[in-house]
Amino acid sequence: ASTLGAAAAEKGRYFGTAVAANHLGESAYVSTLDTEFNSVTPENEMKWDAVESTRNSFNFAAADQIVSHAQSKGMKVRGHTLVWHSQLPSWVGTLAAADLRTAMNNHINQVMGHYKGKIHSWDVVNEAFQDGSSGARRSSPFQDKLGNGFIEEAFRTARAADPAAKLCYNDYNTDGVNAKSNAVYNLVKDFKARGVPIDCVGFQSHFNSASPVPADYQANLQRFADLGVDVQITELDIEGSGTAQATSYGNAVKACLAVSRCTGITVWGVTDKYSWRASGTPLLFDGNYNKKAAYTAVLTALGGS
Ligand code: G3I
Repeated sequence: ASTLGAAAAEKGRYFGTAVAANHLGESAYVSTLDTEFNSVTPENEMKWDAVESTRNSFNFAAADQIVSHAQSKGMKVRGHTLVWHSQLPSWVGTLAAADLRTAMNNHINQVMGHYKGKIHSWDVVNEAFQDGSSGARRSSPFQDKLGNGFIEEAFRTARAADPAAKLCYNDYNTDGVNAKSNAVYNLVKDFKARGVPIDCVGFQSHFNSASPVPADYQANLQRFADLGVDVQITELDIEGSGTAQATSYGNAVKACLAVSRCTGITVWGVTDKYSWRASGTPLLFDGNYNKKAAYTAVLTALGGS
């Protein structure tokens, strides 16, 4: 196979990218997207502030644009994200507990209902744990007012809203074995033991020189898979350039392929030109949509050429 998506498909995986609706009018962006990728994640368009900036008034226009494009090209769609402390409209933080619970469940029901049957995996809860050695929950309106049970409640609501979608917990700095990934591991283990619905864990995998691809990346993915969930690399990008960046990308892909329950990889953008890392060159295509060494390393690791 000569494209990322086709090569990944031969390995039984998808290969996706984050997409921003406001670039879908740019022909080089769209042709690279359509040629190389077979899954998309809206980069911002499904977030709470984008779809429900005012309570119970939903605007799906930008996200619909991405989903329609993906469907017209036969691409899968990852949903990102339902319950997150960031990109959360300020009205949510003003609600008292009972009202917040109602609003959270309504948000999940409305958004998942709108996309029912169209999303292969949903990031139901994103980034609920702190960095560092504590393994503690991160402060957020949900955590602070609803307590630890908000994650379970969100997943139970999500299962009922779209029973066919895979329900994922998604986080960063959980790619290797560390206090934060241990905390997520314990959450998933507890959910599986008690029958709380969860199908997958997303490992964002934003890497740079201070936080490189961990040596125990594969082992960490495997220990989660051994709990009985799928794992997905959900927001891969790696700062750097040239051979070093290419080697890291190849290693990340090989780690996924070595774990049978690692079902797909998503890179966090099509081109360096539009990366959220404004000063970096962390993606597979440069600002002119030329394939980088990192692209070749990924394609090769996927068995393509
Ligand atoms: O849409 C507004 C626009 O109206 C306004 O004029 C402009 C001025 O700042 O801001 C625009 O919003 C920006 C938004 O992206 C859409 O472009 C925000 O400022 C900007 O902060 C936001 O950044 C996004 C970031 O999440 C916010 O947390 C990045 O694009 C997006 O790549 C990034 O993605 C996150 C994942 O969702 C979760 N994991 C980490 C990852 C990287 O930070």
